[in-house]
Parts: sequence; structure tokens; C-alpha cells
Amino acid sequence: MSPPLRILGIETSCDETAASVVLRDEEGGGRILGDVVLSQLEEHSAYGGVVPEIAARAHVEALDTLIEEALLRADVTLKDIDAIAATSGPGLIGGLIVGLMTGKAIARATGKPLYAVNHLEGHALTARLTDGLSFPYLMLLVSGGHTQLILVKGVGDYERWGTTIDDALGEAFDKTAKLLGLPYPGGPAVERAARTGNPERFDFPRPLVGDARLDFSFSGLKTAVRQAAQSLEPVTDEDIADICASFQRAIARTLKDRVGRGLKRFRAEYGSVDAPALVVAGGVAANQTLRATLQALCDEHRFRFVAPPLQLCTDNAAMIAWAGAERLAAGLPADGLDVAPRSRWPLDTRAQTLIGSGKRGAKA
Ligand code: KG4
Ligand code: ZN
Repeated sequence: MSPPLRILGIETSCDETAASVVLRDEEGGGRILGDVVLSQLEEHSAYGGVVPEIAARAHVEALDTLIEEALLRADVTLKDIDAIAATSGPGLIGGLIVGLMTGKAIARATGKPLYAVNHLEGHALTARLTDGLSFPYLMLLVSGGHTQLILVKGVGDYERWGTTIDDALGEAFDKTAKLLGLPYPGGPAVERAARTGNPERFDFPRPLVGDARLDFSFSGLKTAVRQAAQSLEPVTDEDIADICASFQRAIARTLKDRVGRGLKRFRAEYGSVDAPALVVAGGVAANQTLRATLQALCDEHRFRFVAPPLQLCTDNAAMIAWAGAERLAAGLPADGLDVAPRSRWPLDTRAQTLIGSGKRGAKA
């Protein structure tokens, strides 16, 4: 049992500037006291992707005000805060520097401990904040920069079971949208277009399906979409809808195979766990086809499917504050003020780096 903790979280690893105050009670339950997220979508949309320099500048401009706002909404001052948690990787280095330096400055000025948090750990522990999940559980992280299947064993204890060997799933959505002339970000646009499409029209590849490892690959799918679009030139709205629907079907089948294997492995290795759970995180978790696929898969394998509310699946500072609270409560040491941001920082340091995986290193 640890005393109640109030943690200030800061997140600036990609294109969201965010600050939050989270409470962790004696029993380990969590409550978000104040939470603000400023998306930079508009700043980047003209470029069809995140521009690192624009992102870093936007973080500098917004962060102070957002921290004040988060404290105000939580009805606390810095005096009431037990520790500061700032994302220090992985992500875009300019943004990470802004958030971590701000965290260090507050820690220095207030004398409170600083936790340099791995952004992926924030995603991994969110289900304990929202659903009070117990360890161990499986997490599928599907965002613009990551596609990973992670075994969450404890605070600071993670095993990466699978990762993409090329594009992240969100990246595949974004690239597909771009080559079909759909707006950025591509995921919601592809999902919208797919609604009226015929998912059977194109038989797109499902790389690595059947493979014994648990890795993912999406670049071949993107190439197949390009070839289909080129062969139909000029493409009609109906073609676009059919391509998007077929693309989503290929992804659903891929995930069914890959994640299904992960669930089987979990059963084999952790058969004594009473209520095994699969958690989904990352922006792609907004996709209804994907959610339905994962839900059906979990039903089939008798797993609990946990999908935190969307604003906590996408990038936010509550998850960073919560990760800091969990580290503090678990007795893990705070970081020194000399801690450096890391654009690359695998959650599972024992896992091999796979060629091409997370190559953007930008988004998580
Ligand atoms: O987690 P997130 O908000 O940001 C980072 O990647 O850090 O994820 C953004 C990604 C983008 O690639 C976006 O296209 C994708 O999530 N996305 C979706 C949907 N909404 C967002 N992909 C598929 N379907 C959606 N509805
Ligand atoms: Zn993220």
C-alpha cells in the first residue's frame, strides 16, 4: 500500500501537447483530476504528416499554459504534487526535449522527484488506470508509429512478443489514404470510405499470416493497394470505397491470425491467470472494423477485451502521469536531472531491433 499520490504528467513526443494531473489512491485505483490535450493536426495537415520542427515549436508555445490549465482543472497547485512525470522517449527528439526540460525545470524549482517515462509504458499501463487490470495481460499497440504485441508483466517489466518489420499499422492507413487522394490523417478517411465499399472485390495480401513468430508486416499491403489503384486509373469513388473496404478486410484477417496466436501463447504460458485480458491502445484502436475483429477474437478465445476510451488510447498526458504514479508506488527510483531524452527507446530492452520497424521513430 502506498499513500495517495498526485502526479503531474507531461507529453510532447509527437504532435499532441498534453498535461494532466492524476491521482493514485492507496488501493492502487486511479482518477484523472485534470487533463488537457492540444492536437497539432491543423499545423501539420497541409504537409500530409507530422513536421518535426513545427511540432517542437508548437510544444514550446503551448506547454506552459497547458500545465497551468491541467493544475487548475485538478484544483491543485504544484505544492500538492508528489512527482513530475515527463515523456522522455521514444518520439521526435525536438518535442521530447521541450517536455523533459520543462519537467526538469519544475522538479528543480519545487524539489519534487522527476520520472522520465517511456511513452510506450504510458500506453501499456493505461488499462490499470481505466479498468484496474491486474498483471499480467497482453497489449496490442496500434498507432502511427508502432504496431506491437506486448506482454505486460508488471511495472517496468515488459516482453515484446511481436512488432512490425516494416510499416506501422497507422502508417499503412495514412499511406493508403494518401495514394487514394484521401485527406490526412488517413485512418478515419479510409474507414469512412470503406463503409460503402465491397470488401470482397480485392484480395489483398496478408503478409506473415501463418508465421510462427508474432510479428507484423504491412508494406506489401500498401504496394498492393497502389497497384490496384493504378490498374483502375482513373479511380471512381466506388473503386476507392472498394479498395478501402478490401484493405480493412485484409488487416482484420491479419490481426485475427497474429493476435490470435498471441492469445494462444498467453494461455499456454499463463494458464493459471483467471481472467486473461487483451488491451488495445493507439489511434488505430478507433477503427470499428478492428475493434469488432478483436472483440470477436477475444470472445472466441475467452479473453476479456479492454478498449480504454479513445482519448486515453491516443496520445495524452494522463497515461504518462499514471505511469509515473505506478513507478513511484512500486518503489522504483526517480530519475536524475541529467536524464536525457531518447528518440528510440524500446520497452523491452531484451527484444531484438527488427530492421525497418518503427523507422519513423516519431509516433507512438
Ligand atoms: O496514437 P495516435 O493518435 O498517434 C500516434 O501515432 O502517436 O495514432 C494516430 C494514427 C494515425 O496513423 C491515424 O491514421 C490512425 O491512428 N487512426 C486510425 C483511425 N483513427 C486514427 N486508423 C484507422 N481507423 C481509424 N478510425
Ligand atoms: Zn502513443
